[in-house]
Amino acid sequence: MQCMTTLPQLLAMFSPCSPLATLIFFSCILHFAQQASTSSFIGQGYRLISIQIAPDAAIHALLQVKQTNNIYGADIPLLRFYAKHETENRLRVHITDAKNKRWEVPYDLLPREQPPPLKQSIEFLTKNSTWVSEYSGSELVLAYTPDPFSFAVTRKSNGDTLFNSTYDDSHPFGPLVFKDQYLEISTKLSKDASLYGLGEHTQPHGIKLNPNDPYTLFTTDISAFNVNADLYGSHPVYMDLRNEGGKAYAHGVLLLNSNGMDVFYTGTSLTYKVIGGVLDFYFFAGPSPLNVVDQYTSLIGRPAPMPYWAFGFHQCKFGYQNVSVVEEVVENYQKAKIPLDVIWNDDDHMDGAKDFTLHPVNYPRSKLLKFLDKIHNIGMKYVVIIDPGIAVNESYEVYQRGMANDVFIKHDGEPFTGQVWPGAVYFPDFLNPKTVSWWGDEIRRFHELVPVDGLWIDMNEASNFCTGKCRIHEGRICPNETQPWICCFDCRDITNTKWDNPPYKINASGVHAPLGSKTIATSAVHYNGVLEYDAHSLYGLSESIATHKALLDIQKKRPFILSRSTYVGSGKYVAHWTGDILSRWEDLGYSIITMLNFGLYGIPMVGADICGFFITFTDHEELCNRWIQLGAFYPFSRDHADLNSPRQELYLWDSVAESARNALGMRYKLLPYLYTLNYEAHVSGAPIARPLFFSFPSYVECYGLSTQFLLGKSLIISPVLEQGKTQVNALFPPGTWYSLFDLTYTIVSKEGTYVTLDAPLNVVNVHLYQNVILPMQQGGMVTKEARTTPFNLIVTFPAGANDGEATGNLFLDDDEQQEMKLGSGYPIATYIDFHATVREETVKVWSQVVEGEFALEKGWIIDKISVLGLNGGGELQSYDR
Ligand code: GLC
Repeated sequence: MQCMTTLPQLLAMFSPCSPLATLIFFSCILHFAQQASTSSFIGQGYRLISIQIAPDAAIHALLQVKQTNNIYGADIPLLRFYAKHETENRLRVHITDAKNKRWEVPYDLLPREQPPPLKQSIEFLTKNSTWVSEYSGSELVLAYTPDPFSFAVTRKSNGDTLFNSTYDDSHPFGPLVFKDQYLEISTKLSKDASLYGLGEHTQPHGIKLNPNDPYTLFTTDISAFNVNADLYGSHPVYMDLRNEGGKAYAHGVLLLNSNGMDVFYTGTSLTYKVIGGVLDFYFFAGPSPLNVVDQYTSLIGRPAPMPYWAFGFHQCKFGYQNVSVVEEVVENYQKAKIPLDVIWNDDDHMDGAKDFTLHPVNYPRSKLLKFLDKIHNIGMKYVVIIDPGIAVNESYEVYQRGMANDVFIKHDGEPFTGQVWPGAVYFPDFLNPKTVSWWGDEIRRFHELVPVDGLWIDMNEASNFCTGKCRIHEGRICPNETQPWICCFDCRDITNTKWDNPPYKINASGVHAPLGSKTIATSAVHYNGVLEYDAHSLYGLSESIATHKALLDIQKKRPFILSRSTYVGSGKYVAHWTGDILSRWEDLGYSIITMLNFGLYGIPMVGADICGFFITFTDHEELCNRWIQLGAFYPFSRDHADLNSPRQELYLWDSVAESARNALGMRYKLLPYLYTLNYEAHVSGAPIARPLFFSFPSYVECYGLSTQFLLGKSLIISPVLEQGKTQVNALFPPGTWYSLFDLTYTIVSKEGTYVTLDAPLNVVNVHLYQNVILPMQQGGMVTKEARTTPFNLIVTFPAGANDGEATGNLFLDDDEQQEMKLGSGYPIATYIDFHATVREETVKVWSQVVEGEFALEKGWIIDKISVLGLNGGGELQSYDR
């Protein structure tokens, strides 16, 4: 069966009532798996012809093709191989055409060290059959075999092979292949390896990569309920976690390439099939999972600091028809005593879905400003959406200025026409510095019109409701008012170019769809002649950078931006949500998996649409109830739904409102902890929500666990994910765990254990680990209020401890500053370490200001300390101030 289908077919295919479609889907997976197991290139590849090792152990070598074939195009005859130990934990391997400069992720977009210029002759130094490159202090060792050329990376401290591109009979994946539009390279994997990461996919099998599932990377707007398909973001990075004799070792591998690619994972090998660019690998030595994200984000950019209010609860819906509706939503939250910090507008506030406009009747400026004054006075915030597509409309000033500045992506010399919510649109080219200035200016103008607190950049894969080169008709009404997502233009098929129809077809949209389906044609051209073919997956990142710059310039404080499309490095600028999911029980569970993956990608501020985005026929009340219990612990916690979905604000059902008060009530007490995690993320890349193996890397039982997660290192969330269930079977790694809602309830195990926890409708299980000091406050209806309240410290010792220690920490700052940092000359932040000991029945608790006087000046107090674990269990000892 042909694995090709159109996007409408694809959407129909995944509808729950399409058995035929399921069949097509499985046959596609099979096709994918078969491709993975054979190589058409066995016996070919490259040979090393010359090599130099520089004093800094950087390697410069030339590789010559051995035997050519024309599958997917001609081989590039001569390659330059360059490798460098960039830090003691990071090794880079860069392979490109030795004669011609090729496309790679621009160095200004993702700042990093540039490899030296291409040299066409490199002296041959030695003729050994293998060489090894080590740099003193480096944990990673590079070895290579000259003919056929392959390379391996090993860990110095234990000799473990982390990456090895040499094929053999038991790994017949073939040699290095390097053509203009097809690059292939593989690695063997250890049989103990468990892998995590590789792009944005809804993964029904959990966080651990599943052998033979497709992993395709090409940013695409297909709804996130489509499983195993390339979604909105592209993150060609994985973490490999191994357990050797009870000791865990993690390392990371990034292939920094923005072209479309399929990654085939068999369980014992991984094969990259990439349709352009260069092979630019970075290896991160770990050895702990936290070390890997630290090393990764030190290269790609640390996660953006988020303002305090961003950790409050957010409410949004497509379909808030006018200002009064929005006002009513806020009032209803207040009446129901459910915390709410941020109210959002989807397209509704716009005039004809045009960016940076206000609907004159539904959202008159004066009324909106009055409303904003009111909510700003109590510390609430307002965020609105913008899409990249600019309406083609001669009387629209944003369009006029865009045309005057020549800011749009072109095709055949004319701006490329697509269709999004307003109808015909042109797409700004954020790789063009002129576009960045124009965009900044539009945001400034809009901010003068409406003082928004943050921006939501959506549809930036980029999403286009049409495929091909489209023609605008004079006089025809477009789009169709009731179904604006249906393409209403005449579009010419342009798959005759090698960019729109490349020789190797990646598994685009999960069904080998044509590359330009529902996006900008890949033969379209950006600034400086850059092809959309190469830069496609960078669209969201480049828009994020431009938007971040604009908000920073205008607000002069830490921006809050939510982006749907992301690439390597996006976390430095934006938060992310998991896109258009269904209000289905499965999607509730999937949301944990995607959230945890984004933590690995350096985008820790992440969450899913609480209660689901698209309506389904499940029992929405019970689902919504369970969803807020989980969503209250997403780093980014927002309820959002589609235009045609029913309203789902948390106050609408008594049961949901009660759960929301419980779960969000706890979140608001945990704000100091969440904010400290925000700081940790910003300085070390540590995810806010983490898989359990981050704290328990040697405990193999938790490796694939996808139904629970950690907030920080010591708080475990065990939500109900199934309909009708009032119990959860939850895993607890070895040690003592205390229920955060009922501090007297204790779980103790030496080896780790599954426990069946009660979870009646209004209960979510959250447990705190031993040896921890958790700073909490009293909560409130908005974060501004919650953060002024006195602190409580919860101190946990292992059950029955006569002798033990606990530690915790706290970061506080004034939250308005662009920077989130400590240090001399920066007095507006404080970092505090907490310590506690229990010895001979005496408990001592003390704190130490590590840096900064800020907290003292603000007059925060610790009101109460609760100590757990004395006298054999969770018996609570409280000490009031
Ligand atoms: C996209 C977004 C969704 C939004 C809608 C309308 O589908 O993913 O969140 O509501 O566009 O703007």
